[in-house]
Amino acid sequence: MATRTTQAAASPTCATVFPAPAGPFQGTVPVPGDKSISQRAAILAAVAAGESVLTGYLPSEDCRATLRALGQLGVESQWEAGTPVVHVHSPGWEGWRESEDVLDLGNSGTGFRLLTGILAAFPAFSVLTGDASLRRRPMGRVVDPLRRMGARIWGRSDGRFAPLAVQGTYLVGQGHLLPVASAQVKSALLLAGLFARGQTQIEEPAPSRDHTERLLTWLGLPVEPSKGRRVRVEGVWAARKVKLSPFHLTIPADPSSAAFFWALAALRPGSRVTVPGVGINPTRIAFLHLLEKMGAGVSIQSERMEGGEPVADVSVEGRELRGLTVGGATIPAVIDELPLLAVLASQAQGRTQVQDAAELRVKESDRIHGMAEQLGHLGVEVEEKEDGWVIDGPQTLQGGQVESLGDHRVAMSLAIAAVQARQPVTISGIQWVDTSFPGFFERLCQFTHVEVGDGSGDSSMEK
Ligand code: S3P
Repeated sequence: MATRTTQAAASPTCATVFPAPAGPFQGTVPVPGDKSISQRAAILAAVAAGESVLTGYLPSEDCRATLRALGQLGVESQWEAGTPVVHVHSPGWEGWRESEDVLDLGNSGTGFRLLTGILAAFPAFSVLTGDASLRRRPMGRVVDPLRRMGARIWGRSDGRFAPLAVQGTYLVGQGHLLPVASAQVKSALLLAGLFARGQTQIEEPAPSRDHTERLLTWLGLPVEPSKGRRVRVEGVWAARKVKLSPFHLTIPADPSSAAFFWALAALRPGSRVTVPGVGINPTRIAFLHLLEKMGAGVSIQSERMEGGEPVADVSVEGRELRGLTVGGATIPAVIDELPLLAVLASQAQGRTQVQDAAELRVKESDRIHGMAEQLGHLGVEVEEKEDGWVIDGPQTLQGGQVESLGDHRVAMSLAIAAVQARQPVTISGIQWVDTSFPGFFERLCQFTHVEVGDGSGDSSMEK
């Protein structure tokens, strides 16, 4: 398995999760800032000349990689010590400098694809790369439409895989009909479109997360907010200058991280778990609707708007779960929670069918195969389909040895399975949780009173 070089040497890479004491889970669990919004906020703060302040910026590996890459372009960022507050000082997009070295986005598909879009229009030469997982992920989906706008991009297999070399140039707005619903591709094109001549229009097969559109609108930039599957941005090519003032933004908690704790509540009848200040953007929370359909209780309190995004305190109550069928246009709004849904499905009464989710095969790992295989190691029978799974439940989760496959969401989904398992589960590759949720295991221990050992069978790691 790939190793993470930025990981602190002392951090454990393996954990044994001992079954949690019986009984419901009750309480409030704060989770860190939204990964998608953090990355977009950092990039747009870098476009604005001056100091922007991002409160609730996610201190994860992906979001740090984006800040590092921006740093190489001349944009400084500073953390307020011990807080998730980042000050971004930028000379503004037109003052960025050519990076002297390769921009390494690590594991971050969002950072990589969004920066490719904006660098396609920035008059300099850039090379972008990432870790072994990112270098296996499809980049043609962003390179091809950017080339149609005039972008000069080279890469392995004619630009289908990173590393990519980008010679920024004048771009011309185009109409794009995307073959897959991908917010990363849409956002790359919107950012490129901002600096292009004329209009850029994008149509997706199903609505994907719309954080870029919301943030651009909140910042007063000329984007026509997503009407379902379509969005349009007006380029500022003539001036080669986007009029964007630095800003102060509060980033909501990430619903994809909250999902792990909501799942714990859903799995144990009588539980009630609340995540405060979490994003409830409709393009992100299909998981909550599915939990309700499966039988769990969901309540949304103190709804408010922050930085153009709806935010609330969201509680989930555990009741008996039943299986369901998920597919079609729902998939983009639950894409990151599907590995976790597979765990829930194994504990629900009846059949769960996940379809139209072939995108899962090109995430940080092949999540369709990976979850089927790893749940298999815990004694759960999962039928793997080309575009999803069929899972009949409930099935007993046995103890055993599993592997994160270098994928943060696989690691955390397996940890939730481990909490419900009959015997201890040893998970290797746990360092990958830092991609999106640093401190996940500490929070899991505090909240569930599971014991987590260092993988040697000795439950001392987190005690
Ligand atoms: C993201 C979009 C989704 C999602 C990823 C983050 C984003 O990917 O799976 O975790 O921030 O735009 P795709 O755009 O590839 O579907």
